[in-house]
Amino acid sequence: MMTTRRISLLLLIVCFLIPPSLATNVTYDGRAIIINGERRVLISGSIHYPRSTPDMWPGLIQKAKEGGLDAIETYIFWNAHEPTKGEYNFTGNLDFIKFIKIVQDAGLYVILRIGPYVCAEWNYGGFPVWLHQIPGIEMRTDNEIFKAEMQNFTTLIVNMVKNEDLFASQGGPIIISQIENEYGNIMDKYGSAGKRYIQWCANMAESLNVGVPWVMCQQEDAPSPMINTCNGFYCHKFTPNRPTSPKLWTENWTGWFQGWGQSKPHRPVEDIAYAVAYFFASGGTLQNYYMYHGGTNFGRTSGGPYIVTSYDYDAPLDEYGNIRQPKWGHLKQLHDVIKIMEKILVYGVANTTNLGDGLAVTKYIANGISAGCFLINANQSSDINATYNGKTYFVPSKSISVLSNCEKEVYNTAKVNAPTNLIVTTPTESIFNWQWRPENIKDTLHEKGSFSNNSLLEQIMTTGDTSDYLWYMTSIDLSKFHQYWSKKMKLHVNTKGHIIHAFVNKHFIGSQYAVNGKYEFEFEQTTKMRKGHNYISLLSATNGLANYGAYFDLQRVGIDGGPVKLIGYGNATINLTSNTWTYKIGLNGEDEQLYLPSQQQKIKWFSDHLPINRPLTWYKTLFEVPEGNDTLVLDLQGMGKGYAWVNGQSIGRYWPSFIADDKGCEPCDYRQEYDSNKCRTDCGKPSQRWYHVPRYFTTKGPNTLILFEDFGGDISKISLQKVSIESIS
Ligand code: GAL
Repeated sequence: MMTTRRISLLLLIVCFLIPPSLATNVTYDGRAIIINGERRVLISGSIHYPRSTPDMWPGLIQKAKEGGLDAIETYIFWNAHEPTKGEYNFTGNLDFIKFIKIVQDAGLYVILRIGPYVCAEWNYGGFPVWLHQIPGIEMRTDNEIFKAEMQNFTTLIVNMVKNEDLFASQGGPIIISQIENEYGNIMDKYGSAGKRYIQWCANMAESLNVGVPWVMCQQEDAPSPMINTCNGFYCHKFTPNRPTSPKLWTENWTGWFQGWGQSKPHRPVEDIAYAVAYFFASGGTLQNYYMYHGGTNFGRTSGGPYIVTSYDYDAPLDEYGNIRQPKWGHLKQLHDVIKIMEKILVYGVANTTNLGDGLAVTKYIANGISAGCFLINANQSSDINATYNGKTYFVPSKSISVLSNCEKEVYNTAKVNAPTNLIVTTPTESIFNWQWRPENIKDTLHEKGSFSNNSLLEQIMTTGDTSDYLWYMTSIDLSKFHQYWSKKMKLHVNTKGHIIHAFVNKHFIGSQYAVNGKYEFEFEQTTKMRKGHNYISLLSATNGLANYGAYFDLQRVGIDGGPVKLIGYGNATINLTSNTWTYKIGLNGEDEQLYLPSQQQKIKWFSDHLPINRPLTWYKTLFEVPEGNDTLVLDLQGMGKGYAWVNGQSIGRYWPSFIADDKGCEPCDYRQEYDSNKCRTDCGKPSQRWYHVPRYFTTKGPNTLILFEDFGGDISKISLQKVSIESIS
């Protein structure tokens, strides 16, 4: 007779001997990613969970699946999860575990890009700003303090994933993980320490034993067994750095991001399809659309600086999650034909033959019988009637025809027959009854802040990015400078950006913001000065922190070092740079959390004399949302620049008064080599007019909408609108 102890021991041994039956084995060879022993062709798309809301996730993932995707790729956003050191947030749209489980339930794989540097047009590239404040830290290099923090966070994420059995090795959907992001693009700037750092990243990642392959994108010297992958508009020419690594494309940009003051980017679907077909014709095994759904930069998450709130990206699913046609449909058809050829592509042998006139055919044959062909017309200006194997095919310029069995044309990248649709916005019945109150600036106009320093401080280091705003305040007794004094003097401020508002003796004298990508600028304004005591208060605001480039984390912002000067009689200059400057971080309205519904009993709002074009003003209204599932947006045309909250949730920064420049709106020809400066629209229009109000943030009862307007705007023009999709062919 066996004792119960013996039985349990036996069971335990059996459990260890039998591999978990649900585990998915992911490996690779020089040709492909191999899943459970089978080489695969995989089509993936990026959807970043914090750029939508949890109620949108199942629909987005379903539409991705129907669009022919096998996998969803996402970054992990460190600064969203750990805004304060040691205090974590994984709730709401930061619940990435829930997101991964929804992908799993839909039967798709996940590519998890932990970074934790992510770029992504995300504030500070995903790094928490408290990292920057740690003495002695140097980011993304061989620095012990940084490496310890990076390892700490990466391990935390990996453990959260492991605890839920989400790696493929545990039966979960995650088939690939990524460490770092495009470090190869900037590595040389970090000298030998950069090389040591990337080796450390590889070792650290490996030590986490995730049981699935790791990738490093744009990293030509990625140490074994890291797979180096390609990012770009075209990756057919890419070869990995070891013959034993497969050819992977982690970012195929479906469009591009937009900055304030810029027109809207678009990438023609004929060009994307061409790039994808070329990639698979040239031995690719996995390609990922960046983005498949771009979404929205809620709160203060947009980076840049100057990245707009919409992260639409001209992706196959639009900002709100609607199917964008013909992009979605034309790519779906391509995925379908590529999938039919999957086995031939990854097990077959390829041969390319030049047919003359820039035309080539790449033929894949497997087992000597089944075959598939790509007829490639790389000419940017001539269509070709190609004769191949006795048949004639019309191959438009810069296009690829896919021939099933090397006979029948089943797809051509430039022959688009998916329908076309358009986004239409229509006003809802929702009524706004606005109230207002000024931002209380009495204290700051009187030089009252929380600390002082005899210099002009750098803004990010000073605020820790807890707010966009920093007040710089000083005063000067001009009776001591009577030979320089004149009734009107010039205030001159040098700032590193991004926006300033200037007040002298409690009067607003002007605002200025950086334009044309030049974040450093000079502000100069003539102002009345008293013979005696004068107050100078400067409100400096940031608009997203840098997210890309070597040492992006060290870019300085604010009136950092100035100089700040007064120019008086006979151009005599009084330098105020080393005065005693008093500081206040953030707005009083932010301290009082004026935007939170829970604070409203304590706050007095005015209903009369609703101001128009008044700077630094708060506005509030209650409103009802129409029933149904239509996407809701706020039309903020008429407003200047500011922030909007719905029931206390920030829907992002707005800046409709920033009109897009005239660059890139020439007619678009898909046959040109694409870059993000081409094929733009909406030149001369607000760079962003409509702002997503996710249903997830609204309730059935009255909803609270609060705006903080920075420059001044016309609140009466605002309306809540419904988005619908109209088919136009
Ligand atoms: C890549 C980067 C992405 C994103 C993209 C542009 O360089 O890896 O995170 O920033 O560019 O949208």
